[in-house]
Amino acid sequence: MDKTAFFTMTSGLYVVSAAAGDCKAGCVVNTAVQVTSSPARISVAVNKENFTAGVIADAGAFAVTVIDQTADMIYIGNFGFRTSANFDKFERYEERQTALGAPYVPEHATALFSCRLVETLDVGTHLLFIGEIEDAQRLSDEAPLTYDYYHKVLKGKTPPKASSYVE
Ligand SMILES: Cc1cc2nc3c(=O)[nH]c(=O)nc-3n(C[C@H](O)[C@H](O)[C@H](O)COP(=O)(O)O)c2cc1C
Repeated sequence: MDKTAFFTMTSGLYVVSAAAGDCKAGCVVNTAVQVTSSPARISVAVNKENFTAGVIADAGAFAVTVIDQTADMIYIGNFGFRTSANFDKFERYEERQTALGAPYVPEHATALFSCRLVETLDVGTHLLFIGEIEDAQRLSDEAPLTYDYYHKVLKGKTPPKASSYVE
């Protein structure tokens, strides 16, 4: 199998986040996709070992922000290379909350989706969360950060728990 074929699939980068009880979590994903329009729903694939997966399941709601091109590797590293299990990823940024109680960071985000969890599909290493959009907002006019830009301009890497990881 030529896994470089996957590199031709275009996507953006997102932060998916949730809060339940005392737990607050968020992680970078490239797997947020609009799946339907009416009602508007999106799916997001989150590794079962990512702390964020358990918090989304417990919360029954999550937020997705669309990362924009102003994002730097400190921001990506904060959400994409550390775990919320023992670290507050929201501490260094302004934190807001959706009406459904999900935390999100408006900085470096061009849009926000507030989602109610309506279905969870076990797809092996990852859980596919289907969220119904309760609210959507444009947060800035910045261009969205594409995965391609992340690789080519920011010289970013993909960690093992990402759906798109290639050994
Ligand atoms: C560019 C990039 C893309 C990623 N894509 C995904 C993804 O689609 N799904 C996923 O579960 N993790 C993905 N990750 C990995 C998580 O962001 C990472 O494992 C994070 O540390 C998990 O944090 P948590 O333990 O707080 O949930 C990606 C990371 C990066 C940097």
